[in-house]
Amino acid sequence: MPAFTCHLFVCGNRREPGHPRGCCADGGGEAIRDALKSELKRRGLGAEYRANQAGCLEQCEYGPALVLYPQGIWYGNVKVEDVPRIVEETVIGGRILPDLQIPAECLNTKGKVPWRRGDAGAASAENA
Ligand code: FES
Repeated sequence: MPAFTCHLFVCGNRREPGHPRGCCADGGGEAIRDALKSELKRRGLGAEYRANQAGCLEQCEYGPALVLYPQGIWYGNVKVEDVPRIVEETVIGGRILPDLQIPAECLNTKGKVPWRRGDAGAASAENA
């Protein structure tokens, strides 16, 4: 069986209300996963493209979060309406969407390095 050309993991983790880190389920992680599955199918992308629900991806403060492998591209604050351009631009076109990309220096920091959707380069400037 060939390797995945693109395997998307979408956090669907749910935490109790009021948890300090929040959770991607509250932001619609499951709906984003479902929309990705539908969009991949609608475009006739085969078994080498897959979207799965994941548990916590440790980018909770930037949720809903997803990661594309093997590319290793992380997106945060994703909305269902972003799904068509994620598939068109990133999955098919191989282009990163800067407004959705969680900068590398913000990954796995438990929110200590701030980032918000559309803040491309902001975290780098704050930590320079
Ligand atoms: S709850 Fe989604 S990344 Fe942690």
